[in-house]
Amino acid sequence: MKRIKTKELLPGYVLAEDVYNYNGQMILPKGLVLTDKVITRLEFYSIMSVRVEDEVQEVPESTQNSVPELNELPHSAIIKQSKDYVEFKATFDETLDGFKNSINNIVELNSPINTDELLDNTRNLISHAKNSSFSTMDMLHNMRQYDDLTFAHSMNVSLICNVFAGWLKMSPEETDLLTLCGMLHDLGKLKIPDSIIKKPDKLTTDEYQLVKTHTVEGYHILKAQGVDVHISNAALMHHEKCDGSGYPLGLTADRIDEYAKIVAIVDVYDAMTSARIYRGPMCPFRVIELYENEGLQKYDAHYILTFLENVSNTYLHYNVLLSDGRVGQVVFINKNALSKPIVQCRDEMVDLSKIKDLHVDKIL
Ligand SMILES: [Fe+2]
Ligand SMILES: [Fe+2]
Repeated sequence: MKRIKTKELLPGYVLAEDVYNYNGQMILPKGLVLTDKVITRLEFYSIMSVRVEDEVQEVPESTQNSVPELNELPHSAIIKQSKDYVEFKATFDETLDGFKNSINNIVELNSPINTDELLDNTRNLISHAKNSSFSTMDMLHNMRQYDDLTFAHSMNVSLICNVFAGWLKMSPEETDLLTLCGMLHDLGKLKIPDSIIKKPDKLTTDEYQLVKTHTVEGYHILKAQGVDVHISNAALMHHEKCDGSGYPLGLTADRIDEYAKIVAIVDVYDAMTSARIYRGPMCPFRVIELYENEGLQKYDAHYILTFLENVSNTYLHYNVLLSDGRVGQVVFINKNALSKPIVQCRDEMVDLSKIKDLHVDKIL
């Protein structure tokens, strides 16, 4: 193995280790045989040097002449094929079973809430992601097919709250508290008949009124258990909106618990980007656009801006399908138009913020 400067690389060298960009995201995997296009890509990311194997391999004709390198290694495919992802998903499924039991016991049997035990669920998953080449958000983005409105959703919200706490620079204690708020926010849904929660058709007015009571139901269960007031408030207020348009109480910003304001953002994000019986997962850039268009009055400005900026950055390097059918890779996030990144397509850089009516349709 030897280290070679990028400008001295030649096609045929084999990468001896994964290559990361300056954001810590993997851009090329170990074992890849370098081509001219891959070398250009390294230069594009300002990678000064890489470790390569001593033996040089012949570059297959087909690789040299195929489609642009930027589209050859979809970030999602790299993640899904990795051992880290497979392990994370298996742990998620296992944890989900234990979590279902704990939550059912709290609601059905009035079992005492053991916050340490509940937190172990997320800690375990977070540590899996921390020891891997990919972030928790990367892992979660690639498992959007759980059509489970209560348990998988609560686990997701809890994990995203944990990541969000980091973006907000919260202390370890606050992080744990926010993680629990996310985990237990929809606890009251277990009091609503499954036939309504899982109904694929539009709810009747009466059914919708009943669904809304999950906030108050959850609050009462948690209050009776004597948990931290932010946890019961998050259950009660996570559907409140800062402009007073939410439920159950129609509170305005000054009366909504801070933790509930944060959970509210994560809750909507997870619900929209997850698959549902009646629709597939919504594209995160579309969701960001919706927040940008109407979120600023409904959500706390500092929380929503921090969230959107960080979430959009997690999709850097992903391959995307544009609304005009072109495929490319997200190479730059526009700070002033987070849902409209710069995308490297086959022959050109496309700045979505400069083209009206063109947007990211799908992350590949
Ligand atoms: Fe809810
Ligand atoms: Fe929710």
